[in-house]
Amino acid sequence: MEITTNGITLDVSGALPFIPEPEFESWKKPAVKAYNELMNVSGAGNEFLGWLDLPSDITKKEIEEISETAYLLRRRSDVIIVVGIGGSYLGARAVIEALQNSFMLLHKKKHRYPSVIFAGQNIGEDYHAELIEALDKLRYSIIVISKSGTTTEPAIAFRLLRSHLEKKVGKEVAASRIVAITDSSKGALKKLADKEGYKTYVIPNDVGGRYSVLSPVGLLPIACAGFSIKSLVKGAEEMETALKGHETTEDNPAVLYAAIRNILYSKGKTTEMMAGFHPSLNYLIEWWKQLFGESEGKEGKGIFPAGAVYSTDLHSLGQFVQEGTRNLFETFLWIEKPKKEIFIPKSEDDSDGLNYIAGKSLNYVNEKAMLGTLKAHIDGGVPCMKISVPELNEKYLGALIYFFEFSCAVSAYLLGVNPFDQPGVEAYKKNMFQLLGK
Ligand code: PA5
Repeated sequence: MEITTNGITLDVSGALPFIPEPEFESWKKPAVKAYNELMNVSGAGNEFLGWLDLPSDITKKEIEEISETAYLLRRRSDVIIVVGIGGSYLGARAVIEALQNSFMLLHKKKHRYPSVIFAGQNIGEDYHAELIEALDKLRYSIIVISKSGTTTEPAIAFRLLRSHLEKKVGKEVAASRIVAITDSSKGALKKLADKEGYKTYVIPNDVGGRYSVLSPVGLLPIACAGFSIKSLVKGAEEMETALKGHETTEDNPAVLYAAIRNILYSKGKTTEMMAGFHPSLNYLIEWWKQLFGESEGKEGKGIFPAGAVYSTDLHSLGQFVQEGTRNLFETFLWIEKPKKEIFIPKSEDDSDGLNYIAGKSLNYVNEKAMLGTLKAHIDGGVPCMKISVPELNEKYLGALIYFFEFSCAVSAYLLGVNPFDQPGVEAYKKNMFQLLGK
């Protein structure tokens, strides 16, 4: 069974053998109910549903304005540092890493756009010291992103970077190279931005961090990296129209994905492994992990979101997936057409025994690896779904992002939790602040 929406296909045929037909039938109504809770704004956390309309709400003028800011920052910089943590950096990083050349650093001179790099997503001393050391020799700008405006990790990184930049170019020039994305009125970052005269963008009140990639939070860094935010938003908008217009497991892939996840969870499959077959998908999977982990993991419930990049991880986690504890299900993320082509050359003596695949593309082999893994894991007792994307471009990434956000909300409602809060994140902060003597 599969559903294709705007080119993206969800295939659940590798999960259905694990679900008796009457059981699947019995989940159809609750799935539609969860969809309606979302669409009728009647579910928990319904004050945070702004993301539902972000793609269709954003105007051409807003997209042009963000692109213009990105252009100015790019002209002034060799490198742009995005300071943020969690939902305030993962979406941008996911899109940029999916689209950019994996060996950009080796091509440095050829690239038209400065590198976008990330800080404040950890408190690693070496990470930040080494970054600042490297920035001594570079022209750089900073995009600082924090919805609350009070998160410790990015606040520390921003203090370090701001003071470095001010020493390097003076306070006034530094202010022209800093953009703050934060709340419209609250928080320390908003106060500081107003005081120093930084350009600011607002994270809408009704959009939570992990649902904010299609707001300036994701759009500005993505535009700075040279990718088309117009196409990204267009792809998301087309997916928005499609998903809002259908409510059942038969015609809405997000409802089907949410339903299958919850059925498998009710049968003891408590971990979902999102497996990509291209290393450039690594951060998309990280973004997905955060989206589902923070949205669902609460009140002693939730599917643990794990990630893997195959075939790399078939030589590490693969053993566990094939034969370890049977509490797993998998979702394969497959890109049908890679950006580039490379063929395996023929060798005269065939000393490595690879001539049987000479002339084939790497994607041909990768696809056989994917199909072989799918069958092996299903045979090993792991229910598998597959999401196929025609190619990795802005339009399909926008569609995929919206698809996952929508599925996540429906899935959390089916599970019976509020997808839009994260009370558990406070526990470590409380202890850390006490230990720091705040
Ligand atoms: O999804 C979320 O709400 C979180 O992951 C936040 O994005 C993260 O904690 C960062 O918060 P802030 O943007 O307020 O600094």
